Amino acid sequence: PIMKELLGLTDLEEQIQNRYGLKQVVIVPGDSDFSEYTKKELGRAGAAMLLKYAAKEDIIAVAGGSTTSEIANQLSASTHLKGNLFVPARGGLGEMLELQANTIASNMAKRTGAGYRLLHVPDHLSEDAYQSLIQEPNIKEIIDVIRKSRMVVHGIGEAMVMAERRKVDETTIRILDSEGALAEAFGYYFNDKGEVVHQIPTIGLRIEDIEQTEVVIGVAGGSSKSEAISAVLKFGHEDVLIIDEGAAVKMVEKM
Ligand code: G3H
Repeated sequence: PIMKELLGLTDLEEQIQNRYGLKQVVIVPGDSDFSEYTKKELGRAGAAMLLKYAAKEDIIAVAGGSTTSEIANQLSASTHLKGNLFVPARGGLGEMLELQANTIASNMAKRTGAGYRLLHVPDHLSEDAYQSLIQEPNIKEIIDVIRKSRMVVHGIGEAMVMAERRKVDETTIRILDSEGALAEAFGYYFNDKGEVVHQIPTIGLRIEDIEQTEVVIGVAGGSSKSEAISAVLKFGHEDVLIIDEGAAVKMVEKM
């Protein structure tokens, strides 16, 4: 805390918390665009917030990405989370295995001794495939569990970076561009006003579920993500935000 005071991070935390009406903001020193160490610190702070806000026997939905994966790495056995259930927030988004929500939910569960449920849905779902999948009793059942989540933990990405990482087709890239997509979180794309402009065709938590979720925790860092993070905050349903100094300084400049 003394270090944070010296760096002015406590002041930045308050400014962002007040501007967006958040429950809590945590800023770790550094910029994860340039430092793996800062990314680990984000993971550590994310893990601490997850523990702080989790209640007994909660269902916790987690989204994919390298940042939430780092949270999983920083979790350790805790009696506190034993009765909890980790689930993926949504089905396939086109990520490699290490970054998929299923992988991260199961890692979090294994590290904490909590339970987990997985959702197996192929990437790039067609409308037909979607319609038949949601009729499947097994899928329906797990979706019902996911939609009961009291807490969601997710990363935030830049729209085009995410679209490219997930090998989205050219047409979709053009659509995202013309819609002014700036940020991506849990499979939804947002413009600079925080409006949803596009969604990845998959199943799991819907945007209206996120709006109802009691505790939404966003974790993201790197100065390159500042605009994306601000866009998701304007969407207006985040409760706890964990970012790094690099992102925070640029966000506050534009507030
Ligand atoms: O939805 C956002 C992305 O999953 C963020 O991914 O944490 O690897 O940047 P990242």
